[in-house]
Amino acid sequence: MKIDLKNKTVWVVGASSGIGEGLIKQLSKENCKIVLSARRKNELERISLENNLHNQNSLILPLDISKNKTFKPAIETIISKFKSIDVLILNAGIAHKSYAEETLEEVDRRIMEVNFMGNIQLTKQVIPFLKSQNQATIAITSSILGEIGLPLVSTYCASKHAVNAYFESLRFELEKYKINISILSPGFINTQITKNSLTADGNTFNKNSVAQEKGMNANKCAKEMVKAIKNGKKRKKIGGLETFMPTVAYYFPSFFYWLMKKLHKLN
Ligand SMILES: NC(=O)c1ccc[n+]([C@@H]2O[C@H](COP(=O)([O-])OP(=O)(O)OC[C@H]3O[C@@H](n4cnc5c(N)ncnc54)[C@H](OP(=O)(O)O)[C@@H]3O)[C@@H](O)[C@H]2O)c1
Repeated sequence: MKIDLKNKTVWVVGASSGIGEGLIKQLSKENCKIVLSARRKNELERISLENNLHNQNSLILPLDISKNKTFKPAIETIISKFKSIDVLILNAGIAHKSYAEETLEEVDRRIMEVNFMGNIQLTKQVIPFLKSQNQATIAITSSILGEIGLPLVSTYCASKHAVNAYFESLRFELEKYKINISILSPGFINTQITKNSLTADGNTFNKNSVAQEKGMNANKCAKEMVKAIKNGKKRKKIGGLETFMPTVAYYFPSFFYWLMKKLHKLN
């Protein structure tokens, strides 16, 4: 099911940096109405300005995906301005860099709250508006780590596995309303995600990873994501050779575990 984004209302949550910023750049070429959400209003304003978004076709709507009481007024603001929501892109996410055993419960809960619970609670509130369109899309940024596990990112991996399972299931329920679900799974993308990661006690990790820095450019990733959404893809992995990791883990598990242990020097 191909979709034309022209004149559609596209809501991007997690639009203030990295892949989300790239998504706004790509969407600004599509003649659609764009709603930019994340917590950092100043960054949303900068991105809006840099992409020449005009007030009549865009809306800056600060939102914390972990605060579900704010969803209803946010949705009302979009509907009163643009009358519809056609595409919901759920891109907000946080990671952690810590041994599972040492990670505080509040850190585990925070990751699940942002990456999983927030996204599904917002989705449920937006579904009625998507249903009233002829055609609609929910796109969620998962990860290749939604299909495998790696050390020091256990809760992050768990949150993305949960996202995959939930949205794969939801797709069956929404198909009859012509709502497609695109599960988009980047590999290593050059953003600040590792730098912004939480440590075991909830502080900021503040260091980037080599894998991230050598990874795909965020704008290129976003371009692939918008293409996948327009082509009605159900799922798409985006990145370099690392996108084969889930396949390798499935067919050659012993080799996969050997390789990952070699690459990750653990204490
Ligand atoms: N980079 C990679 O290698 C990679 C690989 C696979 C998947 N991903 C996924 O891609 C998505 C984007 O990450 P990124 O790599 O572009 O990192 P990023 O630059 O750190 O972007 C994260 C985005 O999520 C938003 N966000 C975080 N917490 C939020 C909250 N409570 N409410 C609303 N928005 C929130 C951030 O905005 P504010 O801080 O302004 O709220 C920001 O816009 C994430 O879901 C991530 O898991 C990234």
